[in-house]
Amino acid sequence: MNIQYSDKFLDAIKTAKSVVVSTGAGVSAESGVPTFRGEEGLWKKFRAEELATFEAFQANPKLVWEWYQYRRETINKITPNPGHYAIAEMPKLFDTFRLITQNVDGLHRVAGSENVVEIHGNIKRNKCLDCDEFSYDEEFQQFPPTCECGGKLRPDVVWFGEMLPADAIDIAFGVSRSCDLFFTVGTSGVVQPAASLPTMARQQGAFVVEINIEPTELTYIVDESFMGKSSEVLPEIITKIKEIKGLI
Ligand code: OAD
Repeated sequence: MNIQYSDKFLDAIKTAKSVVVSTGAGVSAESGVPTFRGEEGLWKKFRAEELATFEAFQANPKLVWEWYQYRRETINKITPNPGHYAIAEMPKLFDTFRLITQNVDGLHRVAGSENVVEIHGNIKRNKCLDCDEFSYDEEFQQFPPTCECGGKLRPDVVWFGEMLPADAIDIAFGVSRSCDLFFTVGTSGVVQPAASLPTMARQQGAFVVEINIEPTELTYIVDESFMGKSSEVLPEIITKIKEIKGLI
């Protein structure tokens, strides 16, 4: 790729002190994790209301667990792509940096990102419905599996109709409101409240950049839009930032 950078983007890079990156399923697409929407999206093949709601879990916990175990198996076989690794380099390049993700696959952490704000939870973590303890077992004898306390375990992901983890969303809102450069990467921008983070950032004066293979709901509110695969655009942007900062 040969990206054409606007002067306003280059200025934003030069002056930015506090940077936020917010990612969605698109950033993991090239690692082999299916996205949710679009022709090949999970919600074209599976019914969200039968698999990703608390009501579905209560009605058929075995089916819901089987679906999550299937997704865990997919995720266990895959590795981060150059987009994840490029994001993991960003904390070194700015005074303050925070990564927010809607992804539950944990690939940002595998790529080396720290303090990731996982607003939709983590598919590899279990949570007990009774004692709220977290656990990381993946091999179970029965479904739904149970906690040491005897309570039912569920995957620690946010289902439709559920509140987001309060601490994660507080951090996400706080850093989005106080940053001066915000990147929204690989998300269709239709699921709230994640979709409102770029608007929040822009209203407080941040320069907002979108990276996506196609226009989205967010394209018309951002300052700069790069159309392309995150695994190609992000490494190139990182190289540009390093050049600007005299690091290469
Ligand atoms: P979507 O599936 O809605 O959107 C994925 C976005 O990634 C689309 O805009 C694609 O154009 C873009 N995309 C695909 N491949 C890409 C690539 N290689 N590089 C850059 N962009 C690419 O996924 P999300 O926006 O993450 O919620 O979905 C948000 C939430 O909806 C998910 O977290 C999940 C789902 O229901 C929960 O599970 C709570």
